[in-house]
Amino acid sequence: FVYICQQLIQSMKVQSTTTQQDDHFLIADYDYKSTNIEKNGDKYIAKPQITNFKFKTDTRIPKVGVMLVGWGGNNGTTLTGGILANKFNITWNSRRGTHQPNFYGSLTQSSVIKIGTCNTEEVFVPFKDVLPMVNPCDIVFGGWDISSLNLADAMGRAQVVDYDLQQKLRPYLEKLVPLPSIYYPDFIAANQGDRADNVIPGNNKLEHLNIIRKNIADFKQQNNLDKVILLWTANTERFCVEDPNVHGTAEKLMKSIESSHPEISASTIFACAACLEGCSFINGSPQNTIVPGVIELAEKAGVFVAGDDFKTGQTKFKTCLVEYLVGAGIKPKAIISYNHLGNNDGKNLSQESCFKSKERSKKTCVDDILESNKVLYPTEEELNIDHTIVIKYCPETGDSKKAMDEYIAEIFLGGRQTFAVYNVCEDSLLAAPLIMDLLLLCELFERIQFSKDSSEFQRFDTVLSWLSYLMKAPKSESGITTINALSRQRAMLENLVKVCAGLTVDDNLRLEVRYG
Ligand code: NAI
Repeated sequence: FVYICQQLIQSMKVQSTTTQQDDHFLIADYDYKSTNIEKNGDKYIAKPQITNFKFKTDTRIPKVGVMLVGWGGNNGTTLTGGILANKFNITWNSRRGTHQPNFYGSLTQSSVIKIGTCNTEEVFVPFKDVLPMVNPCDIVFGGWDISSLNLADAMGRAQVVDYDLQQKLRPYLEKLVPLPSIYYPDFIAANQGDRADNVIPGNNKLEHLNIIRKNIADFKQQNNLDKVILLWTANTERFCVEDPNVHGTAEKLMKSIESSHPEISASTIFACAACLEGCSFINGSPQNTIVPGVIELAEKAGVFVAGDDFKTGQTKFKTCLVEYLVGAGIKPKAIISYNHLGNNDGKNLSQESCFKSKERSKKTCVDDILESNKVLYPTEEELNIDHTIVIKYCPETGDSKKAMDEYIAEIFLGGRQTFAVYNVCEDSLLAAPLIMDLLLLCELFERIQFSKDSSEFQRFDTVLSWLSYLMKAPKSESGITTINALSRQRAMLENLVKVCAGLTVDDNLRLEVRYG
């Protein structure tokens, strides 16, 4: 490896016999070490094995467009405005002084990865510098909303961004107006009806699908884009009543759209339109948008789907704290989570059917962590801990969401340890950089292929579970168990980009420092 030993370097070149690079591709060879476990009576037999993988990354950076469903919402406006502030280096004043734009909260832009050691010093580089990634400031944004407000006015309505920055962004944002969208009132809260003034007319779901497809094709062509990614950041819908005859295959799903079946949600129409236009689709809300028929459509189109529900504040912390407790041999017995928020998301979630979608994704997030430890949880019954989710809509709190969690755990000799955690922050200021990461990583993974034991190169699985660090209820390929533990999810992403770059995966033994 050749690098300059200094605090934060911006570029890195890997020099090794196991990587090859030309103008278009970087190919890295990786001997993956795993352990195959066999059960023999009540004993495990562990057999270490090595499998050879090659990872091929297309290093050419494409021109990328992103279409957000729910563009005029809190997340949509904060993301678009935040990126423009960075792009044009717009500074603004608040009572705390003058602010510079940044990408704090973005894994790719503001976190670092250890690439090795220089003498005994550990060397870190920004995540975004390990493999060639799109610069977020180069993304072209577009999208839909059932509300017709331009993005400047929508940002004012959101009440997230400092007033002075809103004013400075106005000339850029007032030109951006969301396209009319599909509105199926039965799927979101009735209280959203008063903002729905930008709606594609009619009840014919096939016509709706075709209009959305045309919107995507036009956006791509008008902006001269190499690729487009769609992301749902519109209201949380209720779950659709999933039926194999309606949603089970691509063919059945298309037939159900043709007959305007009532259990086809707006989000599923967007997901289908994305696949049919050759675009990956990310679901940022908890509902079951990505039904099996959508996965089949994506598979056929060679695009990715990823979901569900952004993992921003409370759940991120939960999957970190519970991982710590269970990892320390301490037994969580109850998690009681209260939230109150006053933004439009909270207003929508005040309807029971939409709340149920959120409750489901917030509740499942510690299951695998508990299930992994049979010392603490030897029976199914013990796994059934008190995990309660309460969400209340209180308009006065605006976007400044309050999350109050109590964790009760059993410690040595029947003792109890209780954590009471109080988390306050602007929800969309956490969500916007995370949405950006989802888009950037999804785009990067579209440029990576792998080959196992010298087989043909192939793309990753259609359901992009590599993005689980960013999702509350990560969707996986069938047959692959979901990982929710935050440090494992992050290590997975970090190691993947390192392996693709030809770097060594870190097992934290630090033998080169101890005995180098
Ligand atoms: P928001 O309510 O401010 O924005 C949603 C936007 O979607 C609104 O402008 C609404 O008019 C629009 N909309 C509703 N139905 C639509 C449709 N069929 N087509 C196009 N637009 C439609 O909500 P916010 O805060 O931006 O959150 C968006 C989603 O992200 C919600 O589902 C929320 O649960 C989810 N989420 C947000 C997190 C956060 O930290 N902000 C974390 C996890 C998930």
